[in-house]
Amino acid sequence: MFHKGPGGSFISPYGLVITTKEPPDCYSLMQNPFHSIRQQYTRGTLSEEQVDRDPVKQLELWIKEAMEAECPEPTAMILSTTGTDLRPSSRVVLMKGLDEHGITFFTNYDSRKGHQLASNPYASLLFFWPDLERQVRIEGTVERVSKMESDNYYDSRPEQSRISAAVSPQSQEISSRRWLEEEIKAQGSRLEAQVKAQGSRFKAQGKDEGVSIERPENWGGYRLIPEYFEFWQGGADRLHDRIIYIWTGSDWRIARLAP
Ligand SMILES: Cc1cc2nc3c(=O)[nH]c(=O)nc-3n(C[C@H](O)[C@H](O)[C@H](O)COP(=O)(O)O)c2cc1C
Repeated sequence: MFHKGPGGSFISPYGLVITTKEPPDCYSLMQNPFHSIRQQYTRGTLSEEQVDRDPVKQLELWIKEAMEAECPEPTAMILSTTGTDLRPSSRVVLMKGLDEHGITFFTNYDSRKGHQLASNPYASLLFFWPDLERQVRIEGTVERVSKMESDNYYDSRPEQSRISAAVSPQSQEISSRRWLEEEIKAQGSRLEAQVKAQGSRFKAQGKDEGVSIERPENWGGYRLIPEYFEFWQGGADRLHDRIIYIWTGSDWRIARLAP
């Protein structure tokens, strides 16, 4: 049964604290305490007239607004892929580029997602900013970015993350955390020594080119080329706004979906 908790709250048999004015419906909460978790969305509305004709610009605007609102991880997106078995698999990656060519993220090409994308380039991305009551769904095909783009981004990363990216066999089973730490230490010193040697060679040749740990061939960027966008803004009483963009081959068709 429920116990009274502090400040007018109720504590469920599972220890879940429920803050409500009314005593909770004990029967349904006993069955499933998650049924009562429900929020009214009142932050805003979205209309066909109000959105930018270009979905990339609309997405840019929403990301900027998420940054201004100090949403945690405003550029984090859920990437879903499937391999030849057609079983979807999802994980978070960080958006590192957005323009008319698509949406870019960086990862290990030999990871699970890398193998899945090699056998099926169709993928989806999802942004969710709970504080703004907004989500954006994007679907399209994925391709690798140029080696130069991957080099540029890799070189911009702090040295420790360059080492981690170079050393970690992403998505493979490893024996222990200790193995990883030792591998990072050993390989990290080897890579740093290489860089130092290269730097002194350049100096001896009178060059002052900056040298850094080189990007491994199996690490780099992907770009999702979008064909479909959905901008979702939470509405009161479940009357959410859903504005979609469909690529027709020459321009974007805008429409509304029922919530
Ligand atoms: C906030 C956040 C950001 C992340 N960013 C990246 C990223 O940009 N690239 C990446 O490869 N993994 C990133 N990860 C880790 C992935 O979610 C995932 O664990 C990893 O890419 C391996 O996925 P896979 O085995 O499906 O290939 C991030 C995780 C979180 C929670």
